[in-house]
Amino acid sequence: MALLTKAPRGTQDILPKDSYQWRFLETVAMETAALFGFKEIRTPTFEHTELFHRSVGDTTDVVQKEMYTFTDKGNRSITLKPEGTAGAVRAAVEHGLLADALPLKVSYLTSCFRYEKPQAGRLREFHQFGVEMLGSQSPAADAEVIGLAYEIFKVLQVQNLTLELNSIGCPQCRPKYHQALKAYFEGHKDELCETCLSRLETNPMRILDCKSPVCSEIAKGAPVVLDFICDECREHFEGVKTRLDKMGIAYTVNPHIVRGLDYYTKTVFEFVTSQIGAQGTVCGGGRYDGLVEELGGAKTPGLGFAMGLERLLLLLAAQQNELPEPRACELYIASIGDAANIKAGELCARLRDEGFYVECDTMGRSVKAQMKYANKIGAKMSMVLGDSELESGKAQLKDMDTGESSPVELGEELTRRLYDAGLARATSELSDQIGDADILRLLGQQE
Ligand code: HAM
Repeated sequence: MALLTKAPRGTQDILPKDSYQWRFLETVAMETAALFGFKEIRTPTFEHTELFHRSVGDTTDVVQKEMYTFTDKGNRSITLKPEGTAGAVRAAVEHGLLADALPLKVSYLTSCFRYEKPQAGRLREFHQFGVEMLGSQSPAADAEVIGLAYEIFKVLQVQNLTLELNSIGCPQCRPKYHQALKAYFEGHKDELCETCLSRLETNPMRILDCKSPVCSEIAKGAPVVLDFICDECREHFEGVKTRLDKMGIAYTVNPHIVRGLDYYTKTVFEFVTSQIGAQGTVCGGGRYDGLVEELGGAKTPGLGFAMGLERLLLLLAAQQNELPEPRACELYIASIGDAANIKAGELCARLRDEGFYVECDTMGRSVKAQMKYANKIGAKMSMVLGDSELESGKAQLKDMDTGESSPVELGEELTRRLYDAGLARATSELSDQIGDADILRLLGQQE
């Protein structure tokens, strides 16, 4: 029975009392990205397992330990996506999007799945907002993508986030670094975990992000990649830093960042905080100049980032950032008797057409119970319809804050009074974000 009434470990329900905060974050992120020219892409929740082996990499923790992989009824190996980049790049190649005007800029909101040990800020199903930009190898693209993450945090007034930056080189300089790492870890062979022992042969860089305490302690003394990068990578890195300096985006170079996924080349970055416990990386990303080719497309550079929405919300809560309140009911229309209830429904329909948030009784409650409900939902105004109101076409409009009532005609005057009270559509945060003109266009009511 407990299985029926408890969500699986590492997952969480997002309840109505919290979901508006999610909607707000998602809207800010997507709309800010739109100002940089990113357009939304939606890709499947699951992909062929091979896609993640090829992109995220066979020797990563994500692929070796954390994927939700199963065989479907058609005997295919399927994996719930552990991250958003692979699917987005696969879709771009599959649909020939790279033949259009470059750079291709896509944004996404997605659930991701990783079988990790759950703790604060670490879940098995979590949510990412991410972007990918394909087609540019210029450091200007790196600055633009980092600038977008920065701008989103600025709009949300997030504080105490540090941007940490590194370059992890390219296929030209990486082998030299691998050699140095190998030589270092050979000296600690007896202490490494079994997974890392095999990584020593296949991909020594992955030992650097092993979560086992012994391996991570040893990794602290390992050579850093920044000392091994080639001239081209160094020049690129300088180009990124110069641009960030000019944009007023503060960063620290952290030569220990290698990221946990295999596809990265050159620039990598993380936005980190110490305010939400051990899982303090709120956003991570970087360049992946070999990935498109690896997935069967033409050689095309790319880069992007993803932010974990759970961690971002934890941080906003820790900083007591005031997210906008959800819109409250603007008018509750109570009714006595069937005829009045029908009239209330008719008025609600008309006022909703005008963009007001109105409610009426759908429970067959007494007028006292209806008013109790109106109070509970925080209705700003209320009125009661009975036989005499139906006859006169007038009712008492009550301001629920002050308790004051005044007569109102149920036709145009009611609409006007609601507008006069400042309760028009613009009180919706979402409409503030995307603009009234857009909403009208969506509703097919273009002015
Ligand atoms: P990632 O660093 O693996 O990168 O994940 C990005 C962000 O997702 C992390 O910084 C963190 O905020 C959040 N995150 C990761 N795992 C969990 C978890 N188990 N629970 C809660 N939040 C988590 C990527 O996924 C890359 N695809 C990012 C990227 C896009 N690079 C280039 N383009």
